[in-house]
Amino acid sequence: MTQTCQRIVLASRPRGNVTPDNFRLESVPVPTVGPGQVLVRNHYLSLDPYMRGRMDDSKSYAAPQAIGDTMIGGTAGLVEVSNHPKFAPGDAVVGQFGWQEYGLSDGTMLNKVDTTHVPLSAFLGPVGMPGVTAWYGLREICKPKAGETVLVSAASGAVGSVVGQLAKLSGCRAVGIAGGPEKCAYVRDELGYDACLDHRELNDVRSMSAALKEAAPNGIDAVFENVGGVCLDAALARMNAFGRIALCGLIAGYEGGDISIHNTRALLVSRLTVRGFIVSEHLDLWPKALAELGQGVATGKIKYRESIADGLAAAPEAFIGMLRGRNFGKQLVKLI
Ligand SMILES: NC(=O)c1ccc[n+]([C@@H]2O[C@H](COP(=O)([O-])OP(=O)(O)OC[C@H]3O[C@@H](n4cnc5c(N)ncnc54)[C@H](OP(=O)(O)O)[C@@H]3O)[C@@H](O)[C@H]2O)c1
Repeated sequence: MTQTCQRIVLASRPRGNVTPDNFRLESVPVPTVGPGQVLVRNHYLSLDPYMRGRMDDSKSYAAPQAIGDTMIGGTAGLVEVSNHPKFAPGDAVVGQFGWQEYGLSDGTMLNKVDTTHVPLSAFLGPVGMPGVTAWYGLREICKPKAGETVLVSAASGAVGSVVGQLAKLSGCRAVGIAGGPEKCAYVRDELGYDACLDHRELNDVRSMSAALKEAAPNGIDAVFENVGGVCLDAALARMNAFGRIALCGLIAGYEGGDISIHNTRALLVSRLTVRGFIVSEHLDLWPKALAELGQGVATGKIKYRESIADGLAAAPEAFIGMLRGRNFGKQLVKLI
């Protein structure tokens, strides 16, 4: 009898907010392994904000996800069957198999990982794409010097948690923005940020800007922007001359929220540099970043936190929750 497994496909495109009926859970046969191929049992699925953009049929840096196709996404798992010389059953691997329990590969985009000192799930978080995003934006765009102040929005999240810790390791003052007192306490007390502001309380530009003046008494030299809207607008007014902004994400606008900026004048008078970036366009730097991040996690210098949903069927609700801040740290789905 054919063995079956589960996958989740994009059933329809969202109109505004994502809803559970934009997804469909399907049973499909476990793939048959051909010559040169590898069958992977996915243990963890990574849920990431970029998936929201792919659900829309609009112009972006990547093509939209097709209706009826398995939702895209990073996965970490173990090789079950291998007809490929580079992989053996039991190897821990990271791939791009999407929202499904099994993945079939010819070895392309499949990387072995060493789980001796770093847990498998961390290769989807601080030692994976989100970690490299933090590393790239901070090191290549923010370029902070010791003693400078770095502001990070979504500071408790997968990317933001790493940015602040790297900034502290570089001798900077790190100021975070996060949603709610529990996340702000974690950002300060566990991640070591110097201050953290609650955007749910400071939900207009005037009050956020006043709070930033206190939290960053010497002004802000670099912004690692994950959110947009009030966070970015308030930060602009507090930036020092020749400040750098790494524009990593604008999650406040992914479901149609207002991300307009009013402090445009600051860009001119403070001679600011704003650079957007897409981490997958800088693959040459991934090995260097991953080596440093892996070392940081293995030695406990880089801490991280995970929100883990249980089972593939829980992925849509977990994804919707992440877009609204219900995750606390890297959002994953445990598949086995
Ligand atoms: N450029 C790239 O190559 C690249 C790569 C990876 C990620 N990113 C971007 O980096 C950002 C963070 O991604 P992540 O994976 O680390 O996600 P995450 O921070 O772990 O989760 C998303 C967080 O965004 C915050 N958020 C959502 N809506 C918000 C709003 N209206 N105002 C303020 N905060 C809001 C929530 O945190 P609070 O509860 O604290 O509000 C939520 O927990 C996203 O914008 C993502 O698109 C970009």
